[in-house]
Amino acid sequence: MAIIYKDGKPVVVPGGEPGHAPAPELEDEILPAEDNKVSRRKFMRNVFLNTMGVFTLGAVGTFVVMFWPKKVGSFGSTLKVGDVSAFPPGTVTRVPDGRFYLVHTLPEQGGGLLALYWKCVHLGCTVPWRDTEEGTYNGKTYSGIFHCPCHGSEYIITGQNFAGPAPRPLDIMQVIVSGTTISVNTGKITKRDEAKLSDQVQI
Ligand code: FES
Repeated sequence: MAIIYKDGKPVVVPGGEPGHAPAPELEDEILPAEDNKVSRRKFMRNVFLNTMGVFTLGAVGTFVVMFWPKKVGSFGSTLKVGDVSAFPPGTVTRVPDGRFYLVHTLPEQGGGLLALYWKCVHLGCTVPWRDTEEGTYNGKTYSGIFHCPCHGSEYIITGQNFAGPAPRPLDIMQVIVSGTTISVNTGKITKRDEAKLSDQVQI
């Protein structure tokens, strides 16, 4: 015997035993549509579709991880800049890939290395180095300054602001000296209230 549903109620019907007609097919006749129960066929189809969905998501994820551009040798990564001998005291070197200036100050300015992020701390313009201009800060005159073309902020070689609307010095990036090789971590940027001697990395 078997149970079928009529008008939403279970009814026992003969079938399947010796001498009786075969029991009704489970899938289409026993399960009532009005109960919103998922038939076996629908269930199997959903399992298949879900499995395909998980597989597709996994494949897409793997593709993205493998081919997403990695920050190697560009802004946001650690850049190898070169040998210390290439950056003597008093030089300001523009490093476009890292968006910074590698500065080696003169002994009277601290005599160390700084990586100055070239983004103006006023409204973000790129600040050029002007070696033909000069500026005065704390009674000292500096030959060569950073001079923002947007609203006129000016900074001395250490990044200290001394004119214009900039509210603080240029930000610095982490400088790493390994042996005689200089690298800069462009992903590690520090804001400053004031340029200090301790910002400079001595070599
Ligand atoms: S963005 Fe540089 S002074 Fe305004």
